[in-house]
Amino acid sequence: MEPRIVVHGGAWNIPKELERDHINGVEKAVSIGWDILSNGGSALEAVEASVEYMENDPTFDAGVGAFLNEEGFVELDAIIMDGKTLKAGAVAGVRNIKNPIKLAKIVLEKTEHILVVAEGALRLARKFNIPEVDPKELIVERELKRYMELKNKKFSVTDFFENKGFGTVGAVALDKNGNLAAATSTGGTPNKMVGRVGDTPLIGCGAYADNNFGAVSTTGHGESIMKVLLAKRIVDNLSRGLVANKAIKEAVDYMFERVNGRGGAIAISKNGDIGVYHNTPKMAFAYVLDGKIISGIKVP
Ligand code: GLY
Repeated sequence: MEPRIVVHGGAWNIPKELERDHINGVEKAVSIGWDILSNGGSALEAVEASVEYMENDPTFDAGVGAFLNEEGFVELDAIIMDGKTLKAGAVAGVRNIKNPIKLAKIVLEKTEHILVVAEGALRLARKFNIPEVDPKELIVERELKRYMELKNKKFSVTDFFENKGFGTVGAVALDKNGNLAAATSTGGTPNKMVGRVGDTPLIGCGAYADNNFGAVSTTGHGESIMKVLLAKRIVDNLSRGLVANKAIKEAVDYMFERVNGRGGAIAISKNGDIGVYHNTPKMAFAYVLDGKIISGIKVP
C-alpha cells in the first residue's frame, strides 16, 4: 500500500501576514509524518508526530500558542484514534502538559478508557513521564493580547471565523500495511468558559478512523461539530462510497444547514483518496502525493 498523510492547521480567516507561518508549519508537520511512514512506521506514529510538531509551533491554536480561556490560562484537548482496533485515546482541559497528543496516545495504549480528564490525566502523565510545564510557558504574547482585547466583550461564532481565528491542528494517515489513524489537538475557542470542552477530544466529533472506510480530523466551531458528529458522519459517507472530498462536503454542508456551523476537515479513504474541504474563508493544509509535498491556504 502506498502510504498517505494529510495535515491541517485550522480553518478560519487566516490573516495574510500569518499565511506563511501556517504554510511553513503544516509543511514541516507533514514532512515529519511522511518520514515515519516512508521508513515503514505506522499511521498512528505518523499522526502523533505531525500533531506534536504543530503543538510546539506557536502559530497554531494547540499546545504553545493556544487561545486563553476566560481566566487567562490555556486548557488543551486532544484525541488520537487507531483505525485498526477502533481504540481511541483523548484528554480534555489539561493545563500544564505541552503535548496533550502524547498523553492522549498513553490513554489509547495504556488504559482501557477513551477520555481522561482533570486529576486522572495529570496522574497518567506523571506515571508515564509525560513532561509537565508551568502553565505560563504555554502562553504567547499574541494570545495574551487577544485575551485582553476580547475580555468582557460579547462575541459571536461569526466573529470567531471571520476575524478572531481558529487554528486547531490535525493529521490523518494511511500506512503501508493499510492501517489508518487520525489525531487532532486544540486550545479550543478564545476566552472560553473555564472547563468548556469542545469537539476535539470526542470520538466521532474531532476525529475518527476505521480501516474499513477511512480517517478524518476536523476543525471549526466545536459546539456545531458536536451536534452533527462531524468526523463520524464523514466516515459514514466514505462507507457509502463517496470520494473523500465529497464525503467531507456533504457533512460540512449539513452542519451549516442544520446549525449554521462553520469548519472543515481532512480525510483519507481506505483506498488512499485524499479530501480537504471547509466552509470557512481559509484552511491551512498539506499532504504528500508521489513523494512531493502539496501545501497551501485553501479558499472555498
Ligand atoms: N474545534 C475546536 C473547538 O471548538 O474546541
